Amino acid sequence: MAEPRKLCPLDMLQDPGSRGFSVDRDGRPVELFLVRRGASVFAYLNRCPHTGVNLEWLPDQFLDLSGGFVQCATHGALFRLEDGYCVRGPCGGASLQPLQAWVEADEVWVALD
Ligand code: FES
Repeated sequence: MAEPRKLCPLDMLQDPGSRGFSVDRDGRPVELFLVRRGASVFAYLNRCPHTGVNLEWLPDQFLDLSGGFVQCATHGALFRLEDGYCVRGPCGGASLQPLQAWVEADEVWVALD
């Protein structure tokens, strides 16, 4: 059953911007990240579909220089912000694993599967 978890205030995310989190689920860490574009927030597991490594370049830096795509730091794959679909790179056609995310009273929540 999905477990709602409050992660941070919306204004902790730049627009566009991203932030990584490690949250405990049943005693195990779940690594995930948030991406903001305008009023929309998206959440994905922090795992590249190519090799399973973490995606960020630096802490909380998941986006490419344009801010228009999530970019994997290892081999440069680009993923759409809104659905995590890989548009370029060695995992083209694959997708990041999404988590349900929403904003409530200016706080960002996710549902952990
Ligand atoms: S590990 Fe992400 S593109 Fe290769």
